[in-house]
Amino acid sequence: MSDRLDIVGADLTVTLPGGTDVRFAHLDYAASAPAVRAAADAVRDLLPYYGSVHRGAGLRSQRSTFEYERARDIVAEFVGARPDDSVIFTRNTTDSLNLLARALPAGTTTIVFDGEHHANLLPWPSPVRLPAPHSADAAVEAARAALSSVRGPALLAVTGASNVTGEIWPVRRLADVAHAHGARVLVDAAQLAPHVPVDLDELGADYLALSGHKLYAPFGAGVLAGRGDWLDAADPYLRGGGASASVGDATGDVVWQTGPARHEGGTPNLIGAISLAAVCEALLQADRAAILEHEQSLLAGIDGALTLFGGSQPRVGIVSFAVPDAPGVADRLARDYGIGVRAGLFCAHPLVRRLGGAGTCDTGGLLRASFGLGSTHDDVDRFVKALDDLGVRP
Ligand code: ALA
Repeated sequence: MSDRLDIVGADLTVTLPGGTDVRFAHLDYAASAPAVRAAADAVRDLLPYYGSVHRGAGLRSQRSTFEYERARDIVAEFVGARPDDSVIFTRNTTDSLNLLARALPAGTTTIVFDGEHHANLLPWPSPVRLPAPHSADAAVEAARAALSSVRGPALLAVTGASNVTGEIWPVRRLADVAHAHGARVLVDAAQLAPHVPVDLDELGADYLALSGHKLYAPFGAGVLAGRGDWLDAADPYLRGGGASASVGDATGDVVWQTGPARHEGGTPNLIGAISLAAVCEALLQADRAAILEHEQSLLAGIDGALTLFGGSQPRVGIVSFAVPDAPGVADRLARDYGIGVRAGLFCAHPLVRRLGGAGTCDTGGLLRASFGLGSTHDDVDRFVKALDDLGVRP
């Protein structure tokens, strides 16, 4: 693997209560992935030239504007954007989905499953909420039934991979059903894109959202990519400079930009954009199949993880467990074993309730381990052994 995908801080150590130093085993990539070298180098290299994007004539502004638009082109390639798609830099996936929610034509019906992260549950105005399905087939059939009674514009908003179970959702099949009913599809790729290649056309998606902080570029940028027509017809997400093409003397006498600028009001997050693009570029050049194969071999070392689809669905490197006092276990793993995982509800309360039972949300939720670039078999072995030691191996 290219050293551009090396993890910054891969050799962090932590001192255990007995005084021994161990390598910190980070198993919480699903919350935030550490930076990779490509992101850190891109920031270091651009900072001497940092200046105003789209707002100046000198060297700094010229270089910064060039790099910002180059970043957009690279991200467009990474997500397989089509020529008429807009690729908009946002803060993160939540921001991207809120942007799209505000850009829906009046009267759009939105449909979501209860298995979604809150970022893809809460932004939509009065969505039709379908119960989290038991299988991929059930998901497709539920979507078909819901879409068959919809009239007018509709959007099916679906995750690419669950942030709780890691399961990859049948996005292509859902998209085919949605399109057969004249609806559009948004893919929340926050957890999918760090693990497998994402391509708007192959997924059959109209829109795709992702977060830099889960894609090894933790500098505050995310992306919304997809069909430009609704986005160009919508009110600007952030009204202000950059989003406006001309402003008259009378209140409301404004001509708004079209394209990404319409929704990128204010000075954009250049550092976030170029660092995200640097990672996208490194991943485009990497052997993604080998990365995925390694990740699957890590998953093979773990038993007892919860599934929504009954274990038949492929998954990315995310596993959750129902254990008593998950937050207490996570604390013990951190303090006594030098292992970082996440316990809780993972901003997916309906799904966690569904998987862990009605009381799960009151008793601290689930325990989750998640992997990414730089994760090793040693990390997994230590995690499994620690769960055994603590007597909580599912
Ligand atoms: N969405 C992130 C998670 O699942 C924060 O942990």
